Amino acid sequence: MIGAATRVAAVIGHPIQHSLSPVLHNAGFASLGVDWVYTAFDVAPGQGAAAVAAMRTLGLGGLSVTMPHKQEIARAVDVLDPAARALDSVNTVSWRDDGALVGHSTDGAGFVASLAAAGHGVTGTTVCVLGAGGAGRSIIDALARAGAAAITVVNRTEAAAHAAAQLGGSIASVGAVAAVTDADIVVNTTSVGMGDGRLPCDPGLLRAGQVVVDIVYRPRFTPWLRAAQAVGAVTVDGLGMLIHQAALQEQIWLGRLPDLAAMTAAAHASLPPDP
Ligand code: ATR
Repeated sequence: MIGAATRVAAVIGHPIQHSLSPVLHNAGFASLGVDWVYTAFDVAPGQGAAAVAAMRTLGLGGLSVTMPHKQEIARAVDVLDPAARALDSVNTVSWRDDGALVGHSTDGAGFVASLAAAGHGVTGTTVCVLGAGGAGRSIIDALARAGAAAITVVNRTEAAAHAAAQLGGSIASVGAVAAVTDADIVVNTTSVGMGDGRLPCDPGLLRAGQVVVDIVYRPRFTPWLRAAQAVGAVTVDGLGMLIHQAALQEQIWLGRLPDLAAMTAAAHASLPPDP
């Protein structure tokens, strides 16, 4: 039962009313048996630092951060973890023992963990990343930290591709879409195909046996994943990344990983079925 000792955690973003985070986190907290509750706050653009001040004033247990606040919060916290510092982006705020607020970025690590959970380790693999926005950058950073052998970044805007590839250091480079064919793992991080039926690359470039990932999870089985399956590729949808990045947030706040199966079941119960 919610009482005076209950800790409150929340996601801040704008818009936020369609966020799955409360469903995921409350299932995670229940699985851990902790007296925590999780909600969502619609915070207007430019008010992220004020939300961090509110976290200090109200003693919130933890914050999740989504669009459009990830960069602003990187400036509002006291300390950044290595991924958040490299990305200049924060998706998680936690307390340090001395009262400092720490900014973390669990998106990329969540991506790598979701692939591992699906049976696809990334160490030593060649990865083609389509897109170089916030999600793509976090994935490139995490792939390099997890020991990928090579990363090719393919993006419409070349300057953004170069900036993103720098996050991967010597193993990352900017390439053309033909790089899709040689990769062990191909990841769509662009917004192309989110409900518009378009594809992020010609599926004729894909091949049997490749691992093809779309970080979109509404719908779960995107037209691109369908096309990839049709050529015999192994597909991974974006729901796992969402769940794993949330689980890593709870590990940061509480020191233990929640039950991934309970969080997954809660997500399935709350997402509409694919059309
Ligand atoms: P997110 O934070 O979800 O990653 P984002 O930062 O807006 O979102 O990034 C969107 C990505 O989708 C970018 O790589 C963008 O390419 P540009 O850097 O060229 O803008 C890509 N993208 C969006 N619309 C696209 C389109 N119509 N064709 C190709 N790429 C597109």
